[in-house]
Amino acid sequence: MTIRITPLTGSIGASVEGVSLSEPLTDERFEQLSKAFLQHCVLVFREQPLKPAAQLDFIRHWGEPVVPALLSKLRLDEYPEVVQIRTAPKELISTEAWHYDAPHTPVPPKITMLSAQVVPVGGDTMWCNQYLAYDRLTPVMQRMLQGLRVHFRAVRLARSQGVCESDVPSAVHPMVRTHPETGRKALYIGHPDNVMGIEGMTEAEARPLLNFLYEHSTLPDNIYRHMWRVGDALMWDNRCTMHYAVHDYGNHERLLNRVTLKGEVPA
Ligand code: SIN
Repeated sequence: MTIRITPLTGSIGASVEGVSLSEPLTDERFEQLSKAFLQHCVLVFREQPLKPAAQLDFIRHWGEPVVPALLSKLRLDEYPEVVQIRTAPKELISTEAWHYDAPHTPVPPKITMLSAQVVPVGGDTMWCNQYLAYDRLTPVMQRMLQGLRVHFRAVRLARSQGVCESDVPSAVHPMVRTHPETGRKALYIGHPDNVMGIEGMTEAEARPLLNFLYEHSTLPDNIYRHMWRVGDALMWDNRCTMHYAVHDYGNHERLLNRVTLKGEVPA
């Protein structure tokens, strides 16, 4: 079988055909997938029903699984590196906002993989390309952002997991980060609930800039929207994309198995 990579939009995402994720991955196929992953930031594999063990075997080619502390309650007993994303009330869901995974930690995960077990009508997930969000700024704005540092705090996630206010974790990272493998620059920001401010700036100075960058990043021409089917597997690069889980399915069942891989300190 030949691997076929087909872009899904002009900005982000590609579908992959001609590979079975539950079979051992040869070095040659891993190289092809890695190249496509770095280029398209999100890879979609249809009709790949995966048990947790097979999901782990596949994604371990890219690195070491880790579970952010705030999600440890959602781990599978038998496979503690796998977290189950289950239906929760809309008002409690933390992921219905554009976000990177765990920027409130000193070393945010580099890659996330989801495997769709049960899907409702709706419940799509969207991704935006943060390389392009950076590239599409004017050189003047790009220069202005160099050296700025953003204070991330896991407010939404902590709320959804019942963590008390004083225990909400936070971290400070560069607003423009350089991808360690591609060398490209990406905007590192997030939803206003989770971004407390910019180091050394007042709220009045920082908030309009953060709001502008958030809106600019998530314009329709920078997005791939995935309509889940049971058996879909999808991986994304958490160093250059944000994502948003649409909650339009009431209390219908939605179950995705999720694995994240250890990343690097953003620089
Ligand atoms: C996540 O933010 O990792 C979850 C995405 C989803 O539920 O679609």
